[in-house]
Amino acid sequence: MALNIELLRSSFKAVSHKAERLIERFYEILFERYPDVQPLFATARMEEQRKMLLRSIALIVRKVDDTEYLVPYLQGLGKTHVAYGTKPEHYDAVGECLIAALSETAGELWTKEMEETWVEAYGVIKTTMIEGANY
Ligand code: HEM
Repeated sequence: MALNIELLRSSFKAVSHKAERLIERFYEILFERYPDVQPLFATARMEEQRKMLLRSIALIVRKVDDTEYLVPYLQGLGKTHVAYGTKPEHYDAVGECLIAALSETAGELWTKEMEETWVEAYGVIKTTMIEGANY
């Protein structure tokens, strides 16, 4: 089935007024569930990092139907992540925690269809970033 782009966008829009909370919760959940990942961010300026992640996710959602733009963007991002110490297995942890943070932030607005749409979209993001990383 094709990715439900409308639902991806509308669900992200539904949390946009709480975007800072979303990203804050994402890192809290990630470091709580996967403490081994935290050292990768040891030298990161987390304030800046939260902003960059948010901007990046917003860009991906905006450009999700523009393959020509998105594929090289995600491949490049995957490549830079190798230097950050990111391993292929980290991608599932990040996806799980990102979707958990989205669901928590959206609250009762969150639906099973939204969950499925994000799982599907993240799968494509992950595959493309890992492809660019060339492990
Ligand atoms: C949807 C997937 C992801 C997106 C959109 C994303 C986005 C970003 C962005 C935009 C940056 C800022 C620097 C740059 O542009 O290269 C960054 C940095 C970083 N990301 Fe990700 N990332 C993702 C997945 C991951 C995963 C799976 C890990 C592994 C735990 C990770 C760990 C890091 C680290 C360690 C940094 C550098 C922090 C620093 O020291 O400044 N990211 N990420």
